[in-house]
Amino acid sequence: MLIIIGVCIWGALLSPFAMAWTALAGVTGIATLGTARFMFPNVLVEPPSKFKIGPASDYPLNAVSNKWKDQFGVWIVHTDQYEGKDLIYALSTVCTHLGCTPSWLDGEQKFKCPCHGSGFYITGVNFEGPAPRPLERVGLRIAEDGMLEVDKSMKFQEEMGQWVDATSFVDGSLA
Ligand code: FES
Repeated sequence: MLIIIGVCIWGALLSPFAMAWTALAGVTGIATLGTARFMFPNVLVEPPSKFKIGPASDYPLNAVSNKWKDQFGVWIVHTDQYEGKDLIYALSTVCTHLGCTPSWLDGEQKFKCPCHGSGFYITGVNFEGPAPRPLERVGLRIAEDGMLEVDKSMKFQEEMGQWVDATSFVDGSLA
């Protein structure tokens, strides 16, 4: 806008021929700036789908870790309350109703969604509110260096029988 105003003021002081060249220079300058902007687009940097989260011993029994919630959108859960098995798994922080982010309420031992009130046990299984199914697990394994590694490209749904998949949990006795 400032360039156009400048061109108009300058044009009032010049001959028509000089004004035409000035206008052409102004338009060329604007086009060049537009091209330069096009060459450097905004880039959205997504977090990696695979990441290490430390050793299993960082995750004590019957506790939910919020450590990776904000950065990677997962809770790390270590519990023996799902079918009596001692397991560590990574739960997605996406509510299975309409996609809000629940909170882990330690005092009430449940995940609670602020949007419409769905509640999930520490296992991830839904028990109150409109959520139609459990939270989803994502991939978890012990990497070659002994650290736990989450893989968010893998999803596991309890209602599809996918929580028996050995890549959806790690043996909690390793903690
Ligand atoms: S989005 Fe979680 S209860 Fe609706």
